[in-house]
Amino acid sequence: MTNLKLVTISGSLRKGSYNRMLLAEAVEAFGPADVTEADIDLPLYNGDVEAASGVPAAVQTLAQQIKDADAVVISAPEYNKGISGVLKNALDWISRVEGAAFKDKPTVVLSAAAGRTGGETAQFMTLSCLTQLQARLMPGTSILIAAAMNAFDDTGKLKDEMSRKLLATRMQALRAEVA
Ligand SMILES: Cc1cc2nc3c(=O)[nH]c(=O)nc-3n(C[C@H](O)[C@H](O)[C@H](O)COP(=O)(O)O)c2cc1C
Repeated sequence: MTNLKLVTISGSLRKGSYNRMLLAEAVEAFGPADVTEADIDLPLYNGDVEAASGVPAAVQTLAQQIKDADAVVISAPEYNKGISGVLKNALDWISRVEGAAFKDKPTVVLSAAAGRTGGETAQFMTLSCLTQLQARLMPGTSILIAAAMNAFDDTGKLKDEMSRKLLATRMQALRAEVA
């Protein structure tokens, strides 16, 4: 039997990103899978560039990875009470690729942020954009990691038992849906 294919997208490019850590926890909770970490370090969307040279190869690759995946998990940081520029830019580019990569794609959105709401506004905005992209948003209790700088131990593990349980429940539900 072939492994399930999971694509993870961190809305933060930072190496030490807490959203990246949260995705690593999500992947572990999902269980055995072929995991592709999306590269969203893309040029800024510019309609003139698109008209002159088409959608960049890196965007085509990303869209294909999403199309090929059984499920996608996104973790959104919050910047000024909104979605990060790199994540929005990636979603905008993906929406320009023929064949609607996110259409009906089982997708879970998480967030980790420094503030007390755990990036709730950014998560909501991400879900809103994904609705436009026709993703199949998986229902469940929101995973919002507040005060992210204190939420992970030195090895990148979530310290809070309740958050770990909620994440495990969401990821196991995702697995059950796509398996
Ligand atoms: C430009 C900028 C704006 C930010 N705005 C918010 C905010 O609105 N809410 C919040 O909780 N944290 C905010 N933060 C702090 C981020 O949550 C924090 O840097 C977090 O670690 C980013 O995610 P990452 O660790 O995955 O890079 C902001 C950080 C930056 C750089």
